[in-house]
This record gives sequence, C-alpha cells and structure tokens, in this order.
Amino acid sequence: MRKTNVIGIMGAMPEEIEGITHLLDDVSVETFGQREYHSGFCKGQKFVVVFSRWGKVAAATTVTTLIHEFGVTEVLFTGVAGAIHPALKVGDVVVGKRFIQHDLDGRPLMKKFEIPLLNQTYLVANETKLEKAKDAVSTVLEDEALHELISDSDLQSFDILQPKLFVGDIASGDQFISSDEVRQNVLDELPGVLCVEMEGASVAQVCFEYGIPLTVIRTISDEANASSVVDFPAFIQSISSVYSVAFVRELYQLK
Ligand code: ADE
Repeated sequence: MRKTNVIGIMGAMPEEIEGITHLLDDVSVETFGQREYHSGFCKGQKFVVVFSRWGKVAAATTVTTLIHEFGVTEVLFTGVAGAIHPALKVGDVVVGKRFIQHDLDGRPLMKKFEIPLLNQTYLVANETKLEKAKDAVSTVLEDEALHELISDSDLQSFDILQPKLFVGDIASGDQFISSDEVRQNVLDELPGVLCVEMEGASVAQVCFEYGIPLTVIRTISDEANASSVVDFPAFIQSISSVYSVAFVRELYQLK
C-alpha cells in the first residue's frame, strides 16, 4: 500500500512557523515533549508544522516525533543562519546540498566530523528536492517578486539590494557564532561551508537514518561576527519569516 504523503515543516523561530500555520485549514494542535505540532491541510496536501527549538538535540528530537507520531514522508527546515563564506550577505539564501556537524569530534576513535556508526562526515541532500528548492527560492528572490513581498524600507534597513541564492554546505553546531575568531576557525577547517546554524545537520542525520528526504533553506541573518545579535529579532520579523512563508507557498504550489 502506498504511504500518504505528509510534509513536515520545521522552523528555527516561532515567528517563522506562525505564518506557515496560517496557510493551513482544519488545523489541530498536539503537544509532545513541550513542542506544539500543528497539523492541517492546504490544497489537499497534509502538513505538520512545528518550531524545532534551538540546538542539535532539540531539533533531532522534534524531527523524530514528526517521523514517529505524524508519519511525515519528507521534511523542510526553514530558518536563519550566519554567513561563514565571505561571498554571502545578509538577506541571501542558502539551499543546503551537504550537511556537517562542525562541533563533532570523535578523534582518535574516528576522523574529525565523522558521524559515529554512519562512517560519513557530510550527509547529502536529496537531488530532486534540492532542484525544486532552488527553483522555489530563485522565484521568490526575483526582483519584482521580492519587492511585492517586502517593503523597500525593510529591505533598505538591512542593506538588502539583490539577494542571491547559494547552494552548498551548511554546518551545524551547538554554538551561536558571533566572533571573527570562531568564524575564521570554521572557515579554516571547513573551507567549503557557506553558513552556520544550530540544527540542520542533526535533522539531516535523523532523516538519513529513517530514509526521509530533507530540504534545508536558510536565510542569512548575520555574518557570524560581533554584530550578529544586532537587530536579530527585527530581521526575523520583517525579512526571514516573510521569506519562509513565500518559500513554502512556492515550493508546494500553495498560491
Ligand atoms: N543562526 C543564525 N545566525 C547564527 C550564527 N551566527 N551562529 C549560529 N547559528 C545562527
């Protein structure tokens, strides 16, 4: 028998998932482990939307519940990230191609960054889902669409001119990176990494172990340096939560 398609959506900020739950009809809320899972439908498709909470353990636990209790057949993670690669600016968007835990170090028992028992350091995104995410993000970031979505004054207040889509490596760790020194350490050790956040690679590990395709879309909120915390809440409210809803609408054709 074919499994019903259920899409799990996790957001790194409560503000981000709120807009997504508003897209759904017939919403019911169930609580597991202090997390509220919002189930509902849009255009006949079932979604379960949840705030991941912060950090690798929290996010891994949340996605495990999505899989066990709600039977999700694919997962989207949307949220903010700090830029590690110098090419990325605030307002740019990263679609994750590979995921690594930058604070995982089981040496001398195994290689640095290797995930115990999986013999892998990087987990790779599903190719088909990745292509769809790239298309959806590109559409949202097109000049005209972007200006319809976000006011000029909000874009200007974060110096966002022409936000770009990047596709590549995302590193996750239980650390909010807000110093040049730590940022440089990550860049030196993992030169291919585009951005850092605190959940994606742990969700990727759980999804890999259960055979569930995962898409991670991250909006750059800061440059992982001393000014990282400045205007963080304002950025979430006026930019990244608006992006997240638009990505979901575009990705799942909910318009
Ligand atoms: N999420 C958003 N910005 C971040 C940063 N600088 N470090 C870790 N996670 C983040």
